[in-house]
Amino acid sequence: MTDASSMFDLISEQNEEREYFDTGGIGQSHEFYTGEEQFRREMQLVYGQRWLPVDHVSRLPDPGCFTTLNIGSGSILLLHGDEGIRAYHNYCRHRGYKLVEEAAGKRQSLVCIYHCWVYNRNGGLKTFNGTYFDHFFTKEENGLVPVRTAIRHGVVFVCFAEDPPDLDQALGEFDRFAEAYELAELKCMQYKDYPVASNWKLVAHNVNESLHFPTAHKDLHKVTDFDAAGTYDLRGEDLVGAWQMLREGYESISTTGHSDRSPMPLVPLEDRRKVNWITILPNLLFGLTSDYVMMQWVWPESPGSCVVRHFWLFHPDETAKESFSHEPVFALWDKANYEDWELCERTHRGLSNPMWRPGQLSLDEEVVAQIDAWVLNHTRGTESEV
Ligand code: FES
Ligand SMILES: [Fe+2]
Repeated sequence: MTDASSMFDLISEQNEEREYFDTGGIGQSHEFYTGEEQFRREMQLVYGQRWLPVDHVSRLPDPGCFTTLNIGSGSILLLHGDEGIRAYHNYCRHRGYKLVEEAAGKRQSLVCIYHCWVYNRNGGLKTFNGTYFDHFFTKEENGLVPVRTAIRHGVVFVCFAEDPPDLDQALGEFDRFAEAYELAELKCMQYKDYPVASNWKLVAHNVNESLHFPTAHKDLHKVTDFDAAGTYDLRGEDLVGAWQMLREGYESISTTGHSDRSPMPLVPLEDRRKVNWITILPNLLFGLTSDYVMMQWVWPESPGSCVVRHFWLFHPDETAKESFSHEPVFALWDKANYEDWELCERTHRGLSNPMWRPGQLSLDEEVVAQIDAWVLNHTRGTESEV
């Protein structure tokens, strides 16, 4: 570990008095990673109750823009309507047909192609072509079902709970990072979805530690220093994070290690070679670098499968340039991602053995322990909650 002098020092602390060591730092059980019952509790008590970050505003810039996201067995539809971006359940109010299958697009009306009910960009039912209804049916009561939506720093959040937790309390001091990297202003220039045959928490572990960089990621290890890294002690109920330095002589995590782009203007000089790995629990990792920002989600599908969604965002001053290209950045991460999913899938196969016993985690894997502790804490709810 090395000390890094930076604007984030005040919230960073690294010593061996940390709570983590009191617990012994042992991983969780076979059931925790593979069990149907644990998965059901996670879907109900974590994904069904917490605020979930789901998208970035730059993907929905104009009225009529939409994106979709599958969460567990459901799906949500984000629409940029007259009042801004709002989330809805992605099914038709008539017979439940999944309204939109595309991941993103732009349309002023959404047509359910089963019996042709048409919705406007505000989720309202516009017409229901020839479907016969008695006088009691009103279009006003048959719009898409809204999901509670909030936006912070350009990140769109949804919450399915009747009585949602306090989002700002959950995010704590995330705003310090969001402001330094101008998160609300950035533009998502690339996204990709990756199916992974592993429990979602094993992916969350993997993307939150750099201990495996030397063995798994030749290109990433060349430019980042897994020894010059540490864990933050962050205020915020749903916030964990760590930092890592780029090696001397490199200024970008890309195939070349270099970048033609100017560093993010609000990131101080002393932080330009620092990567802030900040996770909003349960499932969104930010990789904040002075060259670009990544958002990487893991969305559970079943105890043994998930989808990882990855965004790459850049400063608008840079994307406006004719010479802009994110290819060397995307190429490095796309390769690293496949390397990671292989590790996660094989770990899932290994600990699917009921005789598996959890092992010792090191200080470099402190965030791994924090993620599990947070999930455990939120899935311990009373029986009446599940
Ligand atoms: S299910 Fe959509 S119009 Fe019938
Ligand atoms: Fe990795």
